[in-house]
Amino acid sequence: MKIFHAGMKTTAQTKPSPLSKYFLLFLLLCLPCILLLYSLQPKRHQPPTGDPPQENNIYGSGDLKIRPGYASYESYIQLQLGKTLNPKLRELWKTRDWDRKIQVFGGFFQDLKRKKLLSNESKALCIGARVGQEVEALRRIGVSDSVGIDLVPSPPLVIGGDFHNQPFDNETFDFEFSNVFDHALYPHKFVGEIERTLKPGGVCVLHVALSRRSDKYSANDLYSVTPLVELFNRSEVVHTRKVDGFGLDTEIVFRKKKVIPSS
Ligand SMILES: *[C@@H]1O[C@H](CO)[C@@H](O)[C@H](O)[C@H]1NC(C)=O
Ligand SMILES: *[C@@H]1O[C@H](CO)[C@@H](O)[C@H](O)[C@H]1NC(C)=O
Ligand SMILES: *[C@@H]1O[C@H](CO)[C@@H](O)[C@H](O)[C@H]1NC(C)=O
Repeated sequence: MKIFHAGMKTTAQTKPSPLSKYFLLFLLLCLPCILLLYSLQPKRHQPPTGDPPQENNIYGSGDLKIRPGYASYESYIQLQLGKTLNPKLRELWKTRDWDRKIQVFGGFFQDLKRKKLLSNESKALCIGARVGQEVEALRRIGVSDSVGIDLVPSPPLVIGGDFHNQPFDNETFDFEFSNVFDHALYPHKFVGEIERTLKPGGVCVLHVALSRRSDKYSANDLYSVTPLVELFNRSEVVHTRKVDGFGLDTEIVFRKKKVIPSS
């Protein structure tokens, strides 16, 4: 410490102003604290992708912001599990919410069927499906080959899987639906996995909140559809429209291009 101090003094200053002296002193006093805080940090777990924990400001428009405060991918997963495993919430999802949600989702899916974006023959995936109301809604309107994924499985409708790293082969689905984009810590991974597992010409429907901040489990905040259009770089926008979907106000539909131009 002493040598360091002396070194700083001789190289940095010939005639130190009082202010910079105090600043140096301040820095030196802070150093042990910073080191201590560093050593107290829990060991970091790498996300499956090996990405850095934050990807703030990588989207040109600035309309997508990753929430700070996740020390590691592990702590993010633990928070998400906290909601998904909450027994009171799970009970409500399966009882009070069950019929109403199936009815509302059924309405959305019927509308997509009328627009020829979904059919009884579609192989369909619901991402972040919790206890699987949207999967049940799909099956009831005749889309029988439907399944959901979530961190916690909920058989028979929902199997276990992380949407940052979908447990499916390339080009598996004709249709994917999600209303949990705000839970994605790595939006480019969330979208990349959808585009990977969709068949060419396959359709992805997202319900998102643009005008309302969602709950403490959200990992990002979205202010326009522009970042989504940027992220879905192997797809075209089919339509966007206002919806009233359990606090989510906007539907945006993408179709994966049949031929992906090589970059
Ligand atoms: C799709 O399935 C539903 C429910 O089983 C059925 O009522 C409907 O006729 C089917 N539509 C077509 C086009 O086969
Ligand atoms: C699409 O975006 C991903 C990251 O989100 C990037 O790795 C990839 O190179 C982009 N592809 C094209 C064709 O721009
Ligand atoms: C699956 O798709 C990704 C890109 O979407 C590609 O990098 C990978 O090689 C593909 N895997 C197989 C087995 O084709």
